[in-house]
Amino acid sequence: HTFDCVILDGNVVTAADVGRYDIAIKDGKIALLAPANSLRGSSAKRIIDAEGAYVTPGGVDAHVHLAEPSLFGKGQSSDDYTSGSRSAIAGGTTTIITFAAQLKSETSLLPALERNFAEAAKGAYCDYSFHLIVSNPTKDALDELPLLKRRGVTSVKIYMTYEALQLRDNQILDVLLRARAEGITTMIHAENGDMLQWMTERLEEQKLLSPRYHVTSRPPILETEATNRAISLGQLVCAPILIVHVSAPSAAEIIRNAQSLGHPVYAETCPQYTFLTRAALEKPGFEGAKAVCSPPPRNSEADLEGIWTHLKNGTFTILSSDHCPFNYDDTAFGKKAAITCDAPDGHFKHIPNGCPGVETRLSLTFSAKRLAPERFVALTSTNPAKLYGLYPRKGALIPGVSDADLTIWYPSGKMQPFSISNDLLHHNVDYTPYEGIEVSQWPRYTLLRGEVVWDRDSSGLVGRQGFGQFCARESSFWHEDLPDWDVANY
Ligand code: URP
Ligand code: ZN
Ligand code: ZN
Ligand code: ZN
Repeated sequence: HTFDCVILDGNVVTAADVGRYDIAIKDGKIALLAPANSLRGSSAKRIIDAEGAYVTPGGVDAHVHLAEPSLFGKGQSSDDYTSGSRSAIAGGTTTIITFAAQLKSETSLLPALERNFAEAAKGAYCDYSFHLIVSNPTKDALDELPLLKRRGVTSVKIYMTYEALQLRDNQILDVLLRARAEGITTMIHAENGDMLQWMTERLEEQKLLSPRYHVTSRPPILETEATNRAISLGQLVCAPILIVHVSAPSAAEIIRNAQSLGHPVYAETCPQYTFLTRAALEKPGFEGAKAVCSPPPRNSEADLEGIWTHLKNGTFTILSSDHCPFNYDDTAFGKKAAITCDAPDGHFKHIPNGCPGVETRLSLTFSAKRLAPERFVALTSTNPAKLYGLYPRKGALIPGVSDADLTIWYPSGKMQPFSISNDLLHHNVDYTPYEGIEVSQWPRYTLLRGEVVWDRDSSGLVGRQGFGQFCARESSFWHEDLPDWDVANY
C-alpha cells in the first residue's frame, strides 16, 4: 500500500483555510493533501469517505483535571487517565493537557510530575501532556523549572483562590519572573480568594447555604479584581500570562484592554460560560450542585452573548473544557460533606468545584454555529497547540510534520440531531451539566496518529487503552525573547 489511510472528499478546515481535499496518511503523519476525490482508487489499508463533511485537526483540550488528589479537600476525581481520555476521543479530542498538582506540603515540583506519569501509564486512549500546578513556590521548587522544561512541561498554573492553593502577590511575582526567564507560560486562576472567604462568612451568618449561593459568594467583581491584579503583576515583571476559565464578560473586557495595549495576556473560556447561567444552580434541592464550578456560570443570556462575542473577536485565545470530574451522588466525599442537618440542600462551600465536559466541548461549540469553522479550529485545536508548545505536531495538518489526528464530522443531513444525555458519554461521572441540550453535530470518526479510535456508526469506541502517548512540549510558539528583567531598570 502507498498509504496507511486515505480520507476522501473532506471539507478540510484549518485555523486559516477551508477547502475540499483528500488527505493521505502514512506512519501516523499527514502525508499529503490533494484535490478532493483525486486519491479515489489509490492504494491504502483503509479508505474513509468523508462525503463532503467537515474534517478538522483533532481537538486539543488544554484544561483537563484527571486523577487529582482531593486538593481542595472537597472531592475525589472520578475520572482517571483511562476514563477521561476515552471520553476525550469519543468527543473528537485527541490531545489533552492535564494538571500535575504540587501539594503545599511538598517543597519540590517533581513528585507531582512522577505521580501523573504513573497515573497516565495505567493507559490513556489519547495523547497527553502536563501543566504543573505550583502551590508552594519556594526557591528550591522554582529552581526546578529548567528541569521541568527539559521533561516537556512548559507551563505552570497558579491560583489566587482556594485555601490549599492560593498564592500571595509576592509569590505570584516569584513564579512569573522565573517562568518568564525559562520560557514557561503561567496560567492564572483569577478570583480573589479573600473576598470569597469574606462573602462566604456573610452568607453563613444568614444561613444561606444551598447550591445557588455558590454564585452569590463569587460575583464578577471577584473575577475582575483578580484579573486586573494578575495583569498588573504580569506587567511588573514583563511576563506572559494566560487567564484560565474566564466567565464574566467584564473580565474579558479588562483582558481585551490589556491586549490592545500590547501586553502578552492570553485568555481561555469554556462551554460552561457559553451554555450555562446561574439558573442551572437555582434548581431545587441539591440539583444545582451539578453546575458548581469556579468561576461560576454568570447571570443571564447577555453574559453568554458577551463570552461568544469575545470568542469571535479574538480576546479569547483558546476554548477548553476545564473537565473536572466529580460524581454528583458522591456519598464518600462531596455530597456526604455538603448535606448536613443544618444544610439539607447542601452547603455550597463543600461542593467540589468543577464540571465534566471533555467529551461535549467540540460538539456543543460546533453545533452552536456561532463561530466560523476556521475560528472554531483555532480556538479548540490550533491555538492551544501553539500556546502550549505542541504545534505543528498537533493542531495542524502540515504534510510530513503534523500527526494524523483528525475529527471527521457528518455531512449535512446525515446525522440525526439528538439531545445530550449522560448515558451516551464515556466519562466516569454520573451526570453532565449539558443534559438535554440538542446538538446537530458529533464526531463521526476520530483518528489519532492515523488510527481510527472512534467510529460512531459502527463500533463506537475502537481506540486502545495505552495507545495514547506522552507529548513533550516546547516553549510557546508565541514565546518572545525578552530582555532580562532587572529591578534597577525601574
Ligand atoms: O471549578 C473549577 N474550575 N474546578 C476546577 C479547578 C480549577 O480551578 O480549574
Ligand atoms: Zn482554575
Ligand atoms: Zn480547571
Ligand atoms: Zn527565551
